[in-house]
Formats: sequence, C-alpha cells, structure tokens
Amino acid sequence: MPVIGVLKETAARETRVALVPQSAGQLVKEKHGVLVQSGAGAAAGFSDADYQKAGAKIVASADAVIKGGDLIVKVQPPSPAEVKKLRANTALISFLSPATNAPLIKALAGRKVTAFAMEYIPRISRAQSMDALSSMATVAGYKAVLMAASEVGKMYPMLMTAAGTISPATVLVLGVGVAGLQAIATAKRLGAKVEAFDPRPAVKDQVKSLGAAFVEMELPKEDVETKGGYAKEQSDAFLKAERVAIAARLPKVNALITTAQIFGKKAPVLVTADMVKQMPPGSVILDMAAESGGNCELTVAGKTVIKHGVKIIGAVNLPALLPVDASNMYSRNVYNLLKHMYPKADAPTDPSEEILAASCLTRGGAVVNEAVRALLVKGGE
Ligand code: NAI
Repeated sequence: MPVIGVLKETAARETRVALVPQSAGQLVKEKHGVLVQSGAGAAAGFSDADYQKAGAKIVASADAVIKGGDLIVKVQPPSPAEVKKLRANTALISFLSPATNAPLIKALAGRKVTAFAMEYIPRISRAQSMDALSSMATVAGYKAVLMAASEVGKMYPMLMTAAGTISPATVLVLGVGVAGLQAIATAKRLGAKVEAFDPRPAVKDQVKSLGAAFVEMELPKEDVETKGGYAKEQSDAFLKAERVAIAARLPKVNALITTAQIFGKKAPVLVTADMVKQMPPGSVILDMAAESGGNCELTVAGKTVIKHGVKIIGAVNLPALLPVDASNMYSRNVYNLLKHMYPKADAPTDPSEEILAASCLTRGGAVVNEAVRALLVKGGE
C-alpha cells in the first residue's frame, strides 16, 4: 500500500498545495498512508490540524516526506535540489513542463523516479476528471477578467443612473479554449459587452451560446485541431489576416484578454506594437500567454508595462492568486489520477493502461514518453 507524500511548494509566489485535507481524508479512508510536510497547505488556507483531522500524518521536513513517501505529489516541477533527494523507484505526480525543462526530465530519469506529468493526461472523456491543465485554465480565465477589470478606468456594466447612462465596457477575448470560455463567462457576468475569436470553427457556437459576439473572419479550411484536442499552429498568412480583423475591433476595446496557445510551442503574436496604439487610452491588455512568449509583442512576463497609454499585464501563474479553489481543483485531479492508479490501495492498475502510459514520462531510469524523448533529442539533450 503506497504512502502518498505531500511536499510544501518551494517555487517563488506558489501558494497552491497538491493535496487538500478533503482528498487526503478520502485516501486515508481507502487505506493509503498520507504524509504531509508541515505548513504545506498554509498558503492555501489549510492548516496542519485540518490534515491531521483527515487522518494524515504531519512531518516536519521535506526530507521526512521523501523518506517516508512512495509517491510524492506536487504542483510545480521539483527544483534540481528536490530532484536530487528523490529516492529511486518512488513515483512523482506534478506539472513537469517538459518542453522547457529538459534537464529536469533527464535528472528524474537518472534518479530512476517514475514521474507522471499532469500536462500529459490525455484529453479523452475518461480522463477529464484528472485534467489539471483545464482546471487551472478555468481558475486563470476567471482571475484574468477580474484583474483586467480592476485596472481599467471604466465600469463593466451598462448603468442608467440619475447622473446619466454609463455605456458598458467592451472586452475582447482572443483564444477560446478552457481559459477563454471562462473569461467570456466571467466578463458577461460582470455586465461587459464581450467579443471573442479562435481559429477553431467549433468555437463559434460556444462563444454565441455564452452571449458573446464572434469576431468574423474567414476561418482556416484545413484541419485546425490535433488528435489531442489542441489547436495547430496557424500559417503566417492566417495570422496576418487575423491581426487585421483584431485591429479593426481594437479602437473600441477596453480590456483585451489574450489566451492563445499552441501546446509545447511559442504563443502566436496576435497584437503587434502598432496595434496597441489603436486601443483607447486607459485600456488594458491582460496577456495570459506571457509565459509562452506572449500574444502581444509588448508583453513582459511577470510585469505590467504601460505603452501608448495602454496597461499591458504579463500574467504569470494566475491560479496561485486563487490558492483555495485552485488547490481544491488540482487536488481533485490528483486524487482522481491516484484512484485510477490504485482502484484499491493494494491493487495497482497496469502501467501500460492508456492514461498512465500517456502521462508517465520517466520510469526505470529511462524517458519512456516518445513525444518527450523527441523533444529532448530536438533540444540537443
Ligand atoms: P490552449 O490553452 O492550448 O489554447 C488556448 C486557445 O488558443 C485554444 O482554444 C486555441 O484554439 C487558441 N488559439 C491558438 N492559436 C490561436 C490564434 N492564432 N488565434 C486565436 N486563438 C488561438 O487550449 P485549451 O484551453 O487547453 O483547450 C483547447 C480545446 O481543447 C478546448 O476548447 C477543448 O475543445 C479541448 N479540450 C478537450 C478536453 C477533453 O476532451 N478532455 C479537455 C480540455 C480541452
């Protein structure tokens, strides 16, 4: 029966915890041992006492979690120092960002750790309850709209007051995946006029069903989605036409939320420096793709810059700004993956099963995921 170890996150400004007391309690009921590093949940509002009440054991240090845990759960990829401590033939579940973390993946293989990447949970219906990318995108899309709203010098809803009628703010959402849909829904709830665009044709109806307008332009004729449900990279000609369509909207846009991503690649540039000039003074761009290079040419990841009177927010790790629900959702995803791995505490699922095989990156000293092996070769590793 594996003991699950919960480490306190060490990355700067990370506030989430990988397993909340409620999931820890469920695992204990199912006969797993749960070891939690003291203070692991503190930044998300979960005390050591909450974990103890759920039946988990609190230990003082990360070393004690690693020593006693057979399967370590984390949110952020482990640091090089943490990897060095991991024991051979134990398992790790965490985000691992393999596209930008080749040395980490090699080090995990070198330590003979069986590492599962939450990013590699396949996008199939059976695995939706384990899909942490989607749950974190939901939290991020919601927070993005609130942050932009608090920076725009204008109210979102239309108001008819004794002091006259206030027109609604216009919010444009670029990229309508999980984060974009949540951004649209949140901006609508706040009363804004919402417009959105995504090159995947199926998205048009989703945008309309949320009561937002779809920015019309000729959509690509070719297949725009990968088998895994992600958008393919668009041609330069398409991106050029897209920028023209976006630019036509910008003079009326008070808050622009950009979420466009291509899995494992640099984000497409949808807003050039010249286009920023066309936005009204006092408007805001919140770039959710900042960490992947940014959808706006002027974005600086982790910073807010003001250019041409427009505030450009290079948003980084938005889910960490809502640690309670981000942890609750991530923890449920991890719990569901654990439950899938161990339908009973003493009865593990065959590791060649589809979800486990797709998300396992290293096992027995080797990188076992073909796509990640190809990434490492491409990166000269
Ligand atoms: P993502 O975070 O990889 O990308 C965000 C959005 O950017 C996507 O909607 C994409 O089409 C869009 N984008 C790419 N290039 C663009 C461009 N040039 N201009 C504007 N937008 C652009 O995507 P996310 O949110 O992770 O998921 C995308 C889709 O995957 C979902 O809407 C859904 O259809 C599918 N999905 C399926 C799941 C399942 O079946 N289990 C789970 C989650 C998502």
